[in-house]
Amino acid sequence: MKRIGILTGGGDAPGLNAVIRAAVKTAESQCNCEVLGIRNGFDGFLDPEGIVPLDAAAVRGILPRGGTILGTANRGNPFAREVEKDGKIVIEDVSGEVVAAIQALELDGLIVVGGDGTLRIAMEMHQKGVPVVGVPKTIDNDVGGTEITFGFDTALNIATEAIDRLHTTAESHHRVMVLEVMGRDAGFIALHSGVAGGADVILIPEIEFNYEAVCRKILQRVESGRDFSIVVVSEGARLAGGEQVFRDTGDAVYVARLGGVSYFVGREIETRTQAETRVTVLGHLQRGGTPSAFDRWLATRYGANAVKLIEDRKFGHMVALKDAKIEATPLEEALAVPKRVNPQGDAVWAARGVGIAFGDEDA
Ligand code: F6P
Repeated sequence: MKRIGILTGGGDAPGLNAVIRAAVKTAESQCNCEVLGIRNGFDGFLDPEGIVPLDAAAVRGILPRGGTILGTANRGNPFAREVEKDGKIVIEDVSGEVVAAIQALELDGLIVVGGDGTLRIAMEMHQKGVPVVGVPKTIDNDVGGTEITFGFDTALNIATEAIDRLHTTAESHHRVMVLEVMGRDAGFIALHSGVAGGADVILIPEIEFNYEAVCRKILQRVESGRDFSIVVVSEGARLAGGEQVFRDTGDAVYVARLGGVSYFVGREIETRTQAETRVTVLGHLQRGGTPSAFDRWLATRYGANAVKLIEDRKFGHMVALKDAKIEATPLEEALAVPKRVNPQGDAVWAARGVGIAFGDEDA
């Protein structure tokens, strides 16, 4: 009987449990494999209670559940792990210990479910001889080598619902409503939800904006009798010159977190246009809760096919959606270039076509 490990790393995303369930059920039914769940990302390999056997009974009922039954870790990079030494926190490379723990478990394959950070760790583990396969997860949809990551669709639906709700109150009060969504350096959540929700302005990291163009759009609407506006701002939006707004500075282990740009945008709009303006930061509501039907479907296909990759010994690859089919993409290729919105692509062109401003328009 073969033995497969599975772990979830980095920020959570709706659909993680659907991947775990699909992997466990497929391993049992299709290839007579047992599955071990690793708790809290790679940290679980160094934790005496970090390994849990998973069978069909253990994953029953988790398909619609948000989060991850295995737990996850944002600071769990074994190549740069925070450890306490002589009462002080120091950063150490403990990847050798993790590799030894994996070897001791005699895993025939390890499924790593994560975004670009976790998948990069997976790739480095593979280079150290660990039989790894990846599953691309993130609400940001910024992993290369696949058309879509699971989690994105749910976040997009939540953001779109938020825009719909802001629309009615904006209209009643004749206000400008600014909504900040997540996405790090990729504007997919802002672009897709902004188009789906009929926003008037969308600000994304891939298109630098200026306040003159944003306010011109809002004032044009007022002049034409539409005295309310919806502005969707990606947390990574950049002012002309490239400046972004960060919530914290990050540290040796953890990248700096973006957030808060919408407060600056809201204040400038109010000052420059005199339109009463309110700001909503959607935050982690985009990550929590039940996955959409699409994400359950995609996550199930990803989980099942990750087991197949192990059967086919396609280590160092991740499952990916290409032309509506699940394929294997080398992790190295997927991580070489992060995925971003194409400012010249048809999606931005269509958005401009329906009158949405990106804050880069000439007078
Ligand atoms: O990568 C997913 C994501 O939700 C980003 O959109 C966001 O910038 C970041 O994680 C937030 O991280 P944390 O949960 O650590 O605040």
